[in-house]
Amino acid sequence: MKLVISDLVAYSALGVVVAGQDVNDTANGMADVIQGKADCASVAAIFARGTFDSGNIGVWVGPQFFEELSARIPSVTLQGVDSTAYKADLDGYLSDGGSSDGAASLASTVNDYNSKCPDSAIVVSGWSQGALVAHKALEQVSSAALNKVAALVTFGDPNGVFSNISLPTSIPSSSFSSSCVTGTVFDPLCAQLPGDFKFPTLISDIVGPFASLPHITVGAQQAEAAASLVAQFPGQLADSWDSFVSNLAPEQFVRLMLTPQHFTYGNNGMAAEAADFVAGLSAVQSAQ
Ligand SMILES: *[C@@H]1O[C@H](CO)[C@@H](O)[C@H](O)[C@H]1NC(C)=O
Ligand SMILES: *[C@@H]1O[C@H](CO)[C@@H](O)[C@H](O)[C@H]1NC(C)=O
Repeated sequence: MKLVISDLVAYSALGVVVAGQDVNDTANGMADVIQGKADCASVAAIFARGTFDSGNIGVWVGPQFFEELSARIPSVTLQGVDSTAYKADLDGYLSDGGSSDGAASLASTVNDYNSKCPDSAIVVSGWSQGALVAHKALEQVSSAALNKVAALVTFGDPNGVFSNISLPTSIPSSSFSSSCVTGTVFDPLCAQLPGDFKFPTLISDIVGPFASLPHITVGAQQAEAAASLVAQFPGQLADSWDSFVSNLAPEQFVRLMLTPQHFTYGNNGMAAEAADFVAGLSAVQSAQ
C-alpha cells in the first residue's frame, strides 16, 4: 500500500497522472469502415480489453492508448473487439488462456477490414487477457492481412505465464511492443519474478492487493470500475475456485495476481510510449 502510493507520487512528479480524465470505453471505427459508413484510414488499430473491462475497449488502457495513437497518426481508425463475441470474463482468461471466441472475432474484423482496405497498416493490441486474445488472434489472421500487420502492442501481457504463443514468422520481434511495470513494485503477470517471490496459495493472497486498487484510479470511470472489481472479483473467484483454480500449480497462481500495478498502463506513460513505438514504425509511416 505504501509502495503503491509512493509510485503514484513518482508518476505525479513526472506529470504523468491526468486528473479527472474522462474516457469512452467504446470504439467502432473499423466496423464503420467495413459496413461502408466511413472511408478507409491509413492505419487501423484494434484493441482487446482485459478481464472485467467494460464496453469494447474498457476504461483502463484502451481509450488512453487510442488517444495517444490519434495524437500521432492523422489517419487512424480505432476499434475494440466485439463485446458480444468476447465477454472478457474470468472463465475465458483462466480456462481458455485468453478467450478463443474473442481471438476469432478480432481476427475476423482484421480480415474484413483488410479485404476492404488492402493498403492500410494494421495494429493489433490488447491489455491483460486482451493481450492473450491479441496473440491468439494473429494465428487466425489471413496471410494477406498478416502482411499488413505492422505491430503487436501489448500491456501487462501474461503470455509468458500461459502458453507462450510465439509471433507469426512474418512478424519480426522488432514489431512487437510489450509494456510491463517492472522494478521493486512490479506487475507479476508480465515481469520476471524475483527468486524469492512468494507464490500465493489462498484466495486472500490474491484479493488482498485489491484493497489499494481504488487509490491508483484516474477519473470517475476508473474509480467506478475499481469499486466494481473489488465488489465482484472475490466472489467470482470463490465461485470458480473448485472448478479450475484448485487445479493450478503454485507457479500458475501468478496468473491471478491482478495487482494494482496491472491497472496503471493507461496512466503511467506507457500508453504514450507504445504509441510512439507504433508511429515510428516504417510500415506505419509508409502507409500514410
Ligand atoms: C463513444 O464512442 C462510440 C463509438 O464511437 C459512440 O457511439 C458513443 O456515442 C461514444 N460515447 C460517448 C459517451 O461519447
Ligand atoms: C514461458 O516462458 C517463460 C520464460 O521463458 C518460462 O519461464 C515459462 O515457464 C514458460 N511458460 C510456459 C507455459 O511454457
